[in-house]
Amino acid sequence: MILTCGWISVALISSALAFQAESPDARAAEVKNAFQYAWTNYVNHTFGSDEIQPVTGMASNSRNGWGASIFDGLDTLLIMGLKDEYEQALEHVSKVNWRVSNDPSKTFETNIRYLGGLLSAYDLQPNPILLSKALSLADQVILPAFDTPNKIPASYVNVTTGKPVPGNQVFLAEFGSMQLELVRLSQITGNSTYQELGLNIINRLAQVKPRYPGLYPMLWNLESFTPSDETIQLNLWEDSVASMETYLKSTTANGTVFLGEINDDLKLLQTGELICFIGGNILLGARYLNRPELDKFAKDLTDGCMTAWEKMPTGLAPEAWSWVDESQRLETFPNDVRLAMQTFGFIPQDKSYDLRPETLESLFYFYRITGDKSYQDKAWKIFKSIDTYCKVQYGYSRVLDTTANDTFKYLYLIFSDPELVSLDKYVFNTEAHPFKLPRPIQIQHTFS
Ligand SMILES: *[C@@H]1O[C@H](CO)[C@@H](O)[C@H](O)[C@H]1NC(C)=O
Ligand SMILES: *[C@@H]1O[C@H](CO)[C@@H](O)[C@H](O)[C@H]1NC(C)=O
Ligand SMILES: *[C@@H]1O[C@H](CO)[C@@H](O)[C@H](O)[C@H]1NC(C)=O
Ligand SMILES: *[C@@H]1O[C@H](CO)[C@@H](O)[C@H](O)[C@H]1NC(C)=O
Ligand SMILES: *[C@@H]1O[C@H](CO)[C@@H](O)[C@H](O)[C@H]1NC(C)=O
Repeated sequence: MILTCGWISVALISSALAFQAESPDARAAEVKNAFQYAWTNYVNHTFGSDEIQPVTGMASNSRNGWGASIFDGLDTLLIMGLKDEYEQALEHVSKVNWRVSNDPSKTFETNIRYLGGLLSAYDLQPNPILLSKALSLADQVILPAFDTPNKIPASYVNVTTGKPVPGNQVFLAEFGSMQLELVRLSQITGNSTYQELGLNIINRLAQVKPRYPGLYPMLWNLESFTPSDETIQLNLWEDSVASMETYLKSTTANGTVFLGEINDDLKLLQTGELICFIGGNILLGARYLNRPELDKFAKDLTDGCMTAWEKMPTGLAPEAWSWVDESQRLETFPNDVRLAMQTFGFIPQDKSYDLRPETLESLFYFYRITGDKSYQDKAWKIFKSIDTYCKVQYGYSRVLDTTANDTFKYLYLIFSDPELVSLDKYVFNTEAHPFKLPRPIQIQHTFS
């Protein structure tokens, strides 16, 4: 059987990977080695580019050529204690000119990777270079995106002119992910301009009544945007989790729970690895809002995602899968569907794995919040599969974007002292960059 890790085909060698119980320290050290392998390759061959292509070892620049891997890697280098590598990275950071790029800045990516990376490194180890770069980036590249009729950020900004690129379509996941970075920048600088812009988006969003409470369409019109405080966001979150349970949850005959999709009022029984952060997110919210009745939904979804890893012969979850649910009669489906349901418990659709971190992200929240060590073991199995099937000459495929850095960061943190980036003191942005909370909260399990 041939499966793929990113765009690499891997011949299947063994049906199951040997699983050894090792100490968390030994596991953390092995994850650190794997990260260093990817990092050293990048430094040796393509330092300063956005990313290295792991198979050819050539540079590529998908994020404006400012060195995205470096900005994305700053916090990981600090967390793993890689001091020399960090100094070298910081040297690069100090020299970047935000006004120079061959491409327009994609507001969402620039915000979560570059601004997020800078602020997170600043929170872990304050340094004036990081803050001044964060401010110049925000002022020169990110704030110009808000120069639109409704102050909803445009998708792209021309960094030379400092003007939004004309275009009328914006994505919920993009403008809805601007808040953490902008709020944190205001907290650190004491200048409220940034957070006002970020929170205005949520206020505008909350005025729009969607068809299913809390479930908003993905694509929005920038011109006619009709769709602050913490309560609004928490209420929106609770509505959306309730609607997920009512409208999207689906259970197979075997009792496995997956989250479906709605398209034109039709429930589609399909999902993918990208969605697998949701179990961890629901558990985090359940604890923060003291809603223990949501724990089971969170756990069922995470277990469902784990099934997608565990049932595949490589131990790597497919990018996308579908299923037949308990209300349907399996015998009425074609042979291949029945066979897949019997073999895997779902139907793999896209059998590539893009080194995605979402399931590991959920396992990280489950481990830190419940203290249950079995989540460490699950994460370790995933790491061993990645190390077996995805390691190539110049790093880990597929590293065309920098997602694998989140993957290694979550893995490392799962095996490290829970006080390292404690969930009581930090909140993670969508690119896995941790920001310091203004006041500590109580979310994490008390590890003795
Ligand atoms: C990177 O370069 C150093 C110094 O030339 C060398 O010792 C090391 O083996 C190289 N590592 C990788 C992974 O390319
Ligand atoms: C993360 O950053 C490193 C170093 O910048 C880079 O090699 C790579 O593109 C990114 N992803 C992975 C897999 O490390
Ligand atoms: C930015 O705008 C200038 C002036 O209109 C144009 O020449 C340039 O090509 C644009 N840059 C990008 C990256 O689109
Ligand atoms: C806050 O930041 C904005 C955007 O850079 C700037 O225009 C304004 O002058 C700043 N306010 C203060 C008090 O520094
Ligand atoms: C269905 O559940 C049974 C009993 O728990 C288990 O043995 C079997 O492996 C499951 N099948 C699939 C395809 O998940």
